[in-house]
Amino acid sequence: MDERVRKIHEAAAFIREQIGGSKPEIGLELGSGLGKVASAVTIDTIVPYTEIPHFARATAPGHEGNLVFGTIAGRQVFVLQGRFHYYEGYSMEQVTFPVRVLAALGVKTLLVTNAAGGLNRSYATGDLMIIRDHISRMPNPLTGPNMDEFGERFIDMTVTYDPDLIKQAERIADHEMIKLQKGIYLANPGPSFETPAESRFYLTIGADAVGMSTVPEVIVARHCGMRVFGVSVISNLSNLDNDNNVASVGDDVLQAADAAAEKMQTLLTHLIAAI
Ligand code: HPA
Repeated sequence: MDERVRKIHEAAAFIREQIGGSKPEIGLELGSGLGKVASAVTIDTIVPYTEIPHFARATAPGHEGNLVFGTIAGRQVFVLQGRFHYYEGYSMEQVTFPVRVLAALGVKTLLVTNAAGGLNRSYATGDLMIIRDHISRMPNPLTGPNMDEFGERFIDMTVTYDPDLIKQAERIADHEMIKLQKGIYLANPGPSFETPAESRFYLTIGADAVGMSTVPEVIVARHCGMRVFGVSVISNLSNLDNDNNVASVGDDVLQAADAAAEKMQTLLTHLIAAI
């Protein structure tokens, strides 16, 4: 058996033992500063990443590093409380390992969240942005021998973010009076933030927000045949001019994400109820 696949099944078997016979079909990955969204979960089991075979360790600020199993709005869910980033030095295999493990456990829908810099000038700090498509500047996580038991060699990416889930989220936001943007997320490897010239370039090629994560997990989730929904917190506005403002500061990112966590929680709770 492919060594990568063996590790995935080992991790999945370990988690299965912790949660008894339950079979959640929804996964939720929480990004920078958004760990508190997990307070919407009626917790059954918390499994620290450090205990799961072959899981990496979450080192990024604002990433707790737990797999939480429980219910949200009466639906069983797995919550990845914190992710692994390429900029931490992890391979794409490690970054996307948790998504493969969720697929092996039977998860069919993956909801992903992150904090991102706003390029679109109509965005404000604290806005939520539904990801309707992405542009990647990161290595592709499907590089290497194809894992046939998960999916095909060449996967279609014309409809990556599930249109029905987007529609539902828009309906919910309308009803809950949550201001919602909808745009294109550009994934940069990081860990340096963008230069103003890079930010202008990204805006020109059609990006609305820029971050350092999420896209590898989304590509792998699509490879596994999952439905995907993504939402970013606009934690800061990208600096398009070479003025002296230091717009991209890590602490601001965490504070803004924390402040938006409640809206995010409302949106995701209703969305999970509707899945
Ligand atoms: N750039 C890249 N990643 C980010 C940003 C940003 O401005 N804000 C939060 N994550």
